Amino acid sequence: MKTYCITGGAGFIGSHLARFLMKEGHQVIVIDNFCDYYPLAYKIDNVFRSVSAESRQSSPKTVKRVMKDIKGIPHYHLYAADIRDMKALLGIFDFHDVDAVIHLAAMAGVRPSIRDPFLYEEVNIKGTLNVLETCRLKNIKKNVIASSSSVYGNTRTLPFREDMPVDHPISPYAATKKATELMASVYHHLYGLDTVLLRFFTVYGPGQRPDLAIHKFTKALFEGREITLFGDGTMKRDYTYIDDIIHGTAEALNYVEKKEKVYEIINLGESRTVSLEELISLLQEKTGKKARIRYESQPPGDVDTTYADLEKARRLLNYSPQVAIEEGLSHFVSWCKEYYHF
Ligand SMILES: NC(=O)c1ccc[n+]([C@@H]2O[C@H](COP(=O)([O-])OP(=O)(O)OC[C@H]3O[C@@H](n4cnc5c(N)ncnc54)[C@H](O)[C@@H]3O)[C@@H](O)[C@H]2O)c1
Repeated sequence: MKTYCITGGAGFIGSHLARFLMKEGHQVIVIDNFCDYYPLAYKIDNVFRSVSAESRQSSPKTVKRVMKDIKGIPHYHLYAADIRDMKALLGIFDFHDVDAVIHLAAMAGVRPSIRDPFLYEEVNIKGTLNVLETCRLKNIKKNVIASSSSVYGNTRTLPFREDMPVDHPISPYAATKKATELMASVYHHLYGLDTVLLRFFTVYGPGQRPDLAIHKFTKALFEGREITLFGDGTMKRDYTYIDDIIHGTAEALNYVEKKEKVYEIINLGESRTVSLEELISLLQEKTGKKARIRYESQPPGDVDTTYADLEKARRLLNYSPQVAIEEGLSHFVSWCKEYYHF
């Protein structure tokens, strides 16, 4: 049994990963500050889903209650702590002999980063530096870190390859992810920290963040509300189903643990682009509801297209996404119906 620390482990991707790693027989240490970027109730439900303790209705609505309720669950340790607080991080790592860190904690939205760039800088850059420093001080040599497809900005050559220059991010969020990649490179060079950075391409599935298009559109369709569509509907995304992301992340962990002298940046996507118009049409089909659409101009930090080249992920991680958007959306819509009682 290994011990893995997941920062941001109460979030969408982190909670799925915690569940997966525990099922594989490992111990998981979750560090999350339960920030209010989206409502706390989702994160509390994520934690319960991670440890397979249901259900939403009976979920306590405070972090304190959650901590109390899950105390004693084997192989799962939850710390409500902030990665900006170095002392708190060191204190947690005093208690556990951690084999590797999967650093997912971040302020994750593109548009809000334009409104509050300092918060993004504090959490995503300083917080990441704290995590890397903690690894150095506690002699943890292996880690996997979340980067993002947003680092590609409006790169015109498609699909996006990891060796393309990414010097022109178009949002503070994207710039903090590029800074994350650079800082991890420094820690690899100076201190031999082995790292795989994963550029995730729009991740969706049960428990998806409520600020993301698939979740917002599906909820609006069921509630009979208007959908706000940014741009003219031609904006395209490479949507990646959560199970594919979790398998890819687990393979990245495996890779970084097995090899020496690792510093790799790897795309995890589906390698297929879907326009917003196509997405809405698929969601109409899956929900059986007709969309009412209000068009607004495309926000300046939103890239036009994301599209992952997966050759490197295939070669190094044996990554092969299994869930096409048509199937993944069916799973997501079923989850929504159950979760919201639609
Ligand atoms: N979901 C996607 O489509 C996507 C795409 C590309 C990259 N990513 C990256 O993957 C990671 C996980 O994304 P997600 O969609 O699960 O987001 P999420 O917001 O659901 O999860 C992030 C978690 O980090 C926690 N957190 C935020 N600030 C913190 C702090 N200061 N200290 C401790 N914890 C803190 C939040 O409370 C949250 O639970 C992020 O780094 C994100 O930037 C996500």
